[in-house]
Amino acid sequence: MEKSPGDGVIMELYKGPLADSLSHVSMFIKEYLEVGHERTFLPSFYADWYSKYASFPVQKDDTWVVTYPKSGTTWVQELVWCLINDPKSPEAELELMKRFPFFEIESLISPDFDKSLLREDDPMNSGNSWRILQELPAPRSIKSHLPKALLPEQIWQVKPKVVYVCRDPRDVCVSYYYHHVKLEGYAGTFNQFVDFFLADKVTYSPIWSHILTFWKMRHEEHILFLRYEDMKKDLAAIVRQVAGFLGKEVDEEQVAWLVHHCSFGEMSKNLAVNNETFMSASSEAAQKLKFMRKGTVGDWKNHLTEEQQKAFQAWTLKCLEGSDFPYYQDYD
Ligand code: A3P
Repeated sequence: MEKSPGDGVIMELYKGPLADSLSHVSMFIKEYLEVGHERTFLPSFYADWYSKYASFPVQKDDTWVVTYPKSGTTWVQELVWCLINDPKSPEAELELMKRFPFFEIESLISPDFDKSLLREDDPMNSGNSWRILQELPAPRSIKSHLPKALLPEQIWQVKPKVVYVCRDPRDVCVSYYYHHVKLEGYAGTFNQFVDFFLADKVTYSPIWSHILTFWKMRHEEHILFLRYEDMKKDLAAIVRQVAGFLGKEVDEEQVAWLVHHCSFGEMSKNLAVNNETFMSASSEAAQKLKFMRKGTVGDWKNHLTEEQQKAFQAWTLKCLEGSDFPYYQDYD
Protein backbone atom coordinates (compact mmCIF):
# COMPACT_ATOMS: atom_id res chain seq x y z
CA MET A 1 0.00 0.00 0.00
CA GLU A 2 1.20 3.50 -0.85
CA LYS A 3 1.92 6.05 1.85
CA SER A 4 1.57 9.77 1.48
CA PRO A 5 4.60 11.12 -0.39
CA GLY A 6 7.62 12.37 1.46
CA ASP A 7 7.34 10.53 4.74
CA GLY A 8 9.11 7.45 3.46
CA VAL A 9 7.34 5.03 5.76
CA ILE A 10 6.76 1.57 4.38
CA MET A 11 3.18 0.35 4.74
CA GLU A 12 2.15 -2.94 3.24
CA LEU A 13 -1.18 -4.66 3.50
CA TYR A 14 -0.64 -8.01 5.21
CA LYS A 15 -1.51 -10.82 2.81
CA GLY A 16 0.34 -13.66 4.51
CA PRO A 17 -0.99 -17.10 5.44
CA LEU A 18 -2.81 -15.86 8.57
CA ALA A 19 -4.71 -13.07 6.79
CA ASP A 20 -8.04 -14.93 6.62
CA SER A 21 -8.04 -16.03 10.25
CA LEU A 22 -6.92 -12.56 11.35
CA SER A 23 -10.01 -10.97 9.83
CA HIS A 24 -11.99 -12.52 12.73
CA VAL A 25 -9.74 -11.46 15.59
CA SER A 26 -11.33 -8.06 16.11
CA MET A 27 -14.79 -6.81 15.23
CA PHE A 28 -13.21 -3.44 14.44
CA ILE A 29 -10.50 -4.62 12.04
CA LYS A 30 -10.70 -6.68 8.88
CA GLU A 31 -7.27 -6.05 7.36
CA TYR A 32 -3.89 -5.18 8.74
CA LEU A 33 -0.85 -3.21 7.67
CA GLU A 34 2.77 -3.89 8.38
CA VAL A 35 4.32 -0.51 9.06
CA GLY A 36 7.91 0.68 9.05
CA HIS A 37 11.12 -1.30 9.40
CA GLU A 38 9.81 -3.17 12.42
CA ARG A 39 6.72 -4.23 10.45
CA THR A 40 4.43 -3.00 13.23
CA PHE A 41 1.07 -4.69 12.83
CA LEU A 42 -1.70 -2.09 12.69
CA PRO A 43 -5.24 -1.83 11.32
CA SER A 44 -5.45 -0.92 7.62
CA PHE A 45 -7.13 2.41 8.38
CA TYR A 46 -4.13 3.50 10.47
CA ALA A 47 -2.71 4.71 7.11
CA ASP A 48 -5.14 7.64 7.19
CA TRP A 49 -3.81 8.76 10.55
CA TYR A 50 -0.07 8.24 10.20
CA SER A 51 0.81 11.81 9.16
CA LYS A 52 -1.39 13.40 11.83
CA TYR A 53 0.30 11.32 14.49
CA ALA A 54 3.83 11.89 13.23
CA SER A 55 3.37 15.67 13.12
CA PHE A 56 1.43 16.01 16.41
CA PRO A 57 2.75 19.03 18.36
CA VAL A 58 4.39 17.91 21.57
CA GLN A 59 4.80 20.09 24.67
CA LYS A 60 7.73 20.00 27.05
CA ASP A 61 5.47 19.58 30.08
CA ASP A 62 3.54 16.64 28.55
CA THR A 63 3.84 13.25 30.18
CA TRP A 64 3.52 10.27 27.84
CA VAL A 65 2.82 6.75 29.08
CA VAL A 66 3.94 4.34 26.38
CA THR A 67 3.48 0.58 26.47
CA TYR A 68 2.77 -2.48 24.40
CA PRO A 69 -0.92 -3.28 25.23
CA LYS A 70 -1.74 -5.20 28.42
CA SER A 71 1.51 -4.31 30.14
CA GLY A 72 -0.06 -2.33 33.00
CA THR A 73 -0.80 0.87 31.08
CA THR A 74 -3.95 1.78 33.03
CA TRP A 75 -2.20 1.12 36.32
CA VAL A 76 0.71 3.46 35.52
CA GLN A 77 -1.61 6.05 33.97
CA GLU A 78 -3.61 6.37 37.18
CA LEU A 79 -0.44 6.64 39.25
CA VAL A 80 1.08 9.26 36.94
CA TRP A 81 -2.14 11.28 36.80
CA CYS A 82 -2.46 11.30 40.59
CA LEU A 83 1.14 12.50 40.95
CA ILE A 84 0.69 15.34 38.48
CA ASN A 85 -2.82 16.39 39.56
CA ASP A 86 -4.83 16.50 42.76
CA PRO A 87 -6.10 12.93 43.18
CA LYS A 88 -8.80 14.15 45.57
CA SER A 89 -10.22 16.69 43.09
CA PRO A 90 -13.53 16.02 41.24
CA GLU A 91 -11.53 15.59 37.98
CA ALA A 92 -10.06 12.38 39.40
CA GLU A 93 -13.52 10.86 39.03
CA LEU A 94 -13.59 11.52 35.29
CA GLU A 95 -13.04 8.50 33.06
CA LEU A 96 -9.31 8.01 32.54
CA MET A 97 -9.81 8.16 28.75
CA LYS A 98 -10.97 11.78 29.17
CA ARG A 99 -8.25 13.06 31.50
CA PHE A 100 -5.48 10.86 30.06
CA PRO A 101 -6.45 10.31 26.40
CA PHE A 102 -5.40 7.35 24.32
CA PHE A 103 -3.46 9.06 21.51
CA GLU A 104 -4.23 6.76 18.57
CA ILE A 105 -7.49 5.14 19.62
CA GLU A 106 -9.35 6.39 16.56
CA SER A 107 -7.08 4.51 14.22
CA LEU A 108 -8.05 1.23 15.89
CA ILE A 109 -11.68 1.34 14.79
CA SER A 110 -12.83 0.96 11.22
CA PRO A 111 -14.64 4.03 9.89
CA ASP A 112 -17.27 1.51 8.70
CA PHE A 113 -17.92 0.13 12.18
CA ASP A 114 -21.51 0.75 13.33
CA LYS A 115 -20.92 3.49 15.91
CA SER A 116 -24.58 3.51 16.98
CA LEU A 117 -23.53 0.78 19.40
CA LEU A 118 -21.30 3.29 21.17
CA ARG A 119 -22.25 5.94 23.70
CA GLU A 120 -22.27 9.35 22.07
CA ASP A 121 -19.42 10.54 24.28
CA ASP A 122 -17.53 7.24 24.05
CA PRO A 123 -13.88 8.08 23.36
CA MET A 124 -14.06 5.52 20.54
CA ASN A 125 -16.81 7.46 18.79
CA SER A 126 -15.64 9.42 15.74
CA GLY A 127 -13.64 12.50 16.55
CA ASN A 128 -14.11 12.38 20.34
CA SER A 129 -10.65 11.32 21.36
CA TRP A 130 -8.84 13.55 18.88
CA ARG A 131 -10.95 16.49 20.13
CA ILE A 132 -10.20 15.63 23.77
CA LEU A 133 -6.51 15.66 22.87
CA GLN A 134 -6.70 19.07 21.18
CA GLU A 135 -8.58 20.56 24.14
CA LEU A 136 -6.52 19.00 26.90
CA PRO A 137 -5.09 21.71 29.18
CA ALA A 138 -1.38 21.63 30.04
CA PRO A 139 0.28 19.82 31.62
CA ARG A 140 -1.10 17.05 29.43
CA SER A 141 -0.96 13.31 30.12
CA ILE A 142 -1.18 11.12 27.03
CA LYS A 143 -1.20 7.35 26.55
CA SER A 144 0.09 5.54 23.48
CA HIS A 145 0.87 2.00 22.42
CA LEU A 146 2.77 3.08 19.32
CA PRO A 147 6.38 1.93 19.03
CA LYS A 148 9.11 4.55 19.17
CA ALA A 149 9.35 4.93 15.38
CA LEU A 150 5.66 5.82 15.02
CA LEU A 151 5.28 8.23 17.93
CA PRO A 152 5.15 11.99 17.17
CA GLU A 153 8.54 13.07 15.86
CA GLN A 154 8.67 16.02 18.26
CA ILE A 155 8.85 13.67 21.25
CA TRP A 156 12.51 13.09 20.39
CA GLN A 157 13.30 16.81 19.99
CA VAL A 158 11.12 18.43 22.69
CA LYS A 159 11.82 15.52 25.10
CA PRO A 160 8.77 15.53 27.37
CA LYS A 161 8.76 12.92 30.12
CA VAL A 162 8.02 9.42 28.82
CA VAL A 163 7.15 6.59 31.18
CA TYR A 164 7.53 3.22 29.49
CA VAL A 165 6.20 0.02 31.08
CA CYS A 166 6.87 -3.52 29.98
CA ARG A 167 5.53 -6.87 31.18
CA ASP A 168 6.45 -10.50 30.64
CA PRO A 169 5.27 -11.20 27.07
CA ARG A 170 3.84 -14.53 28.23
CA ASP A 171 1.49 -12.74 30.65
CA VAL A 172 0.84 -10.06 28.03
CA CYS A 173 -0.27 -12.76 25.60
CA VAL A 174 -2.73 -14.24 28.12
CA SER A 175 -4.09 -10.83 29.07
CA TYR A 176 -4.32 -9.75 25.41
CA TYR A 177 -6.30 -12.89 24.58
CA TYR A 178 -8.93 -12.03 27.24
CA HIS A 179 -8.86 -8.42 26.10
CA HIS A 180 -9.74 -9.57 22.58
CA VAL A 181 -12.59 -11.73 23.85
CA LYS A 182 -14.00 -8.95 25.99
CA LEU A 183 -13.42 -5.83 23.96
CA GLU A 184 -12.89 -6.96 20.38
CA GLY A 185 -15.40 -9.82 20.13
CA TYR A 186 -12.77 -12.51 19.46
CA ALA A 187 -14.41 -15.92 19.31
CA GLY A 188 -11.39 -18.01 18.31
CA THR A 189 -9.41 -20.28 20.59
CA PHE A 190 -6.64 -19.35 23.01
CA ASN A 191 -4.26 -21.66 21.12
CA GLN A 192 -4.91 -19.85 17.88
CA PHE A 193 -4.34 -16.52 19.59
CA VAL A 194 -0.96 -17.76 20.88
CA ASP A 195 -0.02 -18.60 17.29
CA PHE A 196 -0.93 -15.08 16.16
CA PHE A 197 1.01 -13.57 19.07
CA LEU A 198 4.15 -15.61 18.42
CA ALA A 199 3.93 -14.77 14.72
CA ASP A 200 3.89 -11.06 15.72
CA LYS A 201 0.53 -10.73 14.00
CA VAL A 202 -1.56 -8.98 16.63
CA THR A 203 -2.13 -5.24 16.84
CA TYR A 204 1.06 -3.36 17.85
CA SER A 205 3.32 -6.40 17.51
CA PRO A 206 6.20 -7.16 17.44
CA ILE A 207 6.35 -6.79 21.21
CA TRP A 208 10.08 -7.46 21.57
CA SER A 209 11.33 -4.62 19.40
CA HIS A 210 8.74 -2.40 21.11
CA ILE A 211 10.31 -3.19 24.49
CA LEU A 212 13.92 -3.23 23.34
CA THR A 213 13.94 0.22 21.72
CA PHE A 214 12.86 1.76 25.04
CA TRP A 215 15.20 -0.49 27.00
CA LYS A 216 18.08 0.96 24.97
CA MET A 217 16.93 4.49 25.85
CA ARG A 218 16.40 3.75 29.55
CA HIS A 219 19.30 5.93 30.72
CA GLU A 220 18.06 9.04 28.92
CA GLU A 221 16.92 11.71 31.29
CA HIS A 222 13.38 12.05 29.91
CA ILE A 223 12.70 8.29 29.83
CA LEU A 224 11.64 6.11 32.75
CA PHE A 225 11.63 2.37 32.06
CA LEU A 226 9.41 0.36 34.42
CA ARG A 227 8.36 -3.26 34.68
CA TYR A 228 4.93 -4.54 35.71
CA GLU A 229 6.57 -7.21 37.87
CA ASP A 230 8.51 -4.59 39.88
CA MET A 231 5.27 -2.70 40.48
CA LYS A 232 3.73 -5.89 41.84
CA LYS A 233 6.75 -6.52 44.05
CA ASP A 234 7.03 -3.10 45.67
CA LEU A 235 4.56 -0.48 44.52
CA ALA A 236 5.68 2.01 47.19
CA ALA A 237 9.20 2.00 45.74
CA ILE A 238 7.81 2.58 42.24
CA VAL A 239 5.58 5.41 43.50
CA ARG A 240 8.69 7.13 44.91
CA GLN A 241 10.63 6.45 41.71
CA VAL A 242 7.90 7.82 39.43
CA ALA A 243 7.39 10.85 41.69
CA GLY A 244 11.14 11.57 41.58
CA PHE A 245 11.16 11.23 37.80
CA LEU A 246 8.22 13.63 37.47
CA GLY A 247 9.82 16.08 39.88
CA LYS A 248 7.07 15.70 42.49
CA GLU A 249 7.72 15.57 46.20
CA VAL A 250 5.71 12.99 48.08
CA ASP A 251 5.76 12.24 51.80
CA GLU A 252 5.24 8.75 53.19
CA GLU A 253 1.57 9.43 53.90
CA GLN A 254 1.01 10.29 50.23
CA VAL A 255 2.97 7.23 49.14
CA ALA A 256 0.78 5.00 51.31
CA TRP A 257 -2.37 6.69 49.96
CA LEU A 258 -1.25 6.15 46.36
CA VAL A 259 -0.29 2.52 46.98
CA HIS A 260 -3.77 1.91 48.33
CA HIS A 261 -5.53 3.92 45.61
CA CYS A 262 -3.61 2.11 42.85
CA SER A 263 -3.99 -1.36 44.33
CA PHE A 264 -5.72 -3.93 42.15
CA GLY A 265 -8.66 -4.12 44.59
CA GLU A 266 -9.24 -0.35 44.63
CA MET A 267 -8.75 0.11 40.90
CA SER A 268 -11.16 -2.75 40.19
CA LYS A 269 -13.87 -0.87 42.11
CA ASN A 270 -13.05 2.54 40.63
CA LEU A 271 -15.41 3.22 37.70
CA ALA A 272 -13.13 5.98 36.43
CA VAL A 273 -10.34 3.49 35.73
CA ASN A 274 -11.76 -0.03 35.63
CA ASN A 275 -13.03 0.42 32.04
CA GLU A 276 -16.39 -1.14 32.87
CA THR A 277 -18.11 1.88 31.32
CA PHE A 278 -16.25 1.06 28.12
CA MET A 279 -17.92 -0.85 25.33
CA SER A 280 -17.76 -4.64 25.64
CA ALA A 281 -18.54 -7.29 23.02
CA SER A 282 -22.00 -8.82 23.29
CA SER A 283 -20.99 -12.49 23.61
CA GLU A 284 -21.62 -14.37 26.84
CA ALA A 285 -17.87 -14.95 27.23
CA ALA A 286 -17.22 -11.19 26.91
CA GLN A 287 -19.89 -10.27 29.41
CA LYS A 288 -18.35 -12.55 32.02
CA LEU A 289 -14.89 -10.95 31.79
CA LYS A 290 -13.60 -7.90 33.62
CA PHE A 291 -10.96 -5.52 32.26
CA MET A 292 -9.37 -5.66 35.72
CA ARG A 293 -9.14 -9.39 35.28
CA LYS A 294 -6.55 -10.93 37.60
CA GLY A 295 -3.62 -8.55 37.94
CA THR A 296 -1.00 -11.19 38.72
CA VAL A 297 2.48 -12.22 37.61
CA GLY A 298 2.89 -15.64 36.01
CA ASP A 299 -0.68 -16.38 34.92
CA TRP A 300 0.92 -17.83 31.77
CA LYS A 301 1.75 -20.92 33.83
CA ASN A 302 -1.99 -21.58 34.04
CA HIS A 303 -2.51 -21.17 30.31
CA LEU A 304 0.47 -22.19 28.17
CA THR A 305 1.04 -25.85 27.33
CA GLU A 306 4.56 -27.24 27.52
CA GLU A 307 4.80 -27.03 23.76
CA GLN A 308 3.70 -23.39 23.76
CA GLN A 309 6.24 -22.61 26.48
CA LYS A 310 8.95 -24.09 24.28
CA ALA A 311 7.74 -22.00 21.36
CA PHE A 312 7.83 -18.88 23.56
CA GLN A 313 11.35 -19.73 24.67
CA ALA A 314 12.67 -20.18 21.12
CA TRP A 315 10.95 -16.96 19.99
CA THR A 316 12.27 -15.03 23.02
CA LEU A 317 15.86 -16.21 22.55
CA LYS A 318 15.75 -15.30 18.87
CA CYS A 319 14.30 -11.85 19.51
CA LEU A 320 16.82 -11.18 22.29
CA GLU A 321 19.88 -12.19 20.28
CA GLY A 322 22.59 -9.57 20.81
CA SER A 323 20.57 -7.74 23.48
CA ASP A 324 21.49 -7.23 27.16
CA PHE A 325 17.82 -7.34 28.22
CA PRO A 326 17.91 -9.64 31.24
CA TYR A 327 14.28 -10.50 31.98
CA TYR A 328 11.61 -13.04 31.02
CA GLN A 329 13.94 -15.84 30.05
CA ASP A 330 13.12 -18.25 32.86
CA TYR A 331 11.71 -21.50 31.56
CA ASP A 332 11.67 -24.39 34.01
P1 A3P B 1 -4.59 -9.16 33.49
O1 A3P B 1 -5.44 -9.35 32.29
O2 A3P B 1 -3.42 -10.11 33.54
O3 A3P B 1 -5.36 -9.19 34.76
P2 A3P B 1 -3.41 -2.49 30.28
O4 A3P B 1 -3.90 -1.42 31.18
O5 A3P B 1 -2.07 -2.22 29.68
O6 A3P B 1 -4.46 -2.86 29.28
O7 A3P B 1 -3.15 -3.78 31.18
C1 A3P B 1 -4.21 -4.49 31.74
C2 A3P B 1 -3.62 -5.52 32.66
O8 A3P B 1 -3.11 -4.83 33.83
C3 A3P B 1 -4.66 -6.49 33.16
O9 A3P B 1 -3.94 -7.71 33.40
C4 A3P B 1 -5.11 -5.82 34.45
O10 A3P B 1 -5.76 -6.66 35.36
C5 A3P B 1 -3.76 -5.35 34.98
N1 A3P B 1 -3.89 -4.28 35.99
C6 A3P B 1 -4.59 -3.14 35.91
N2 A3P B 1 -4.53 -2.45 37.07
C7 A3P B 1 -3.76 -3.19 37.90
C8 A3P B 1 -3.35 -3.02 39.27
N3 A3P B 1 -3.72 -1.98 39.98
N4 A3P B 1 -2.57 -3.99 39.80
C9 A3P B 1 -2.19 -5.07 39.07
N5 A3P B 1 -2.57 -5.29 37.79
C10 A3P B 1 -3.35 -4.36 37.21
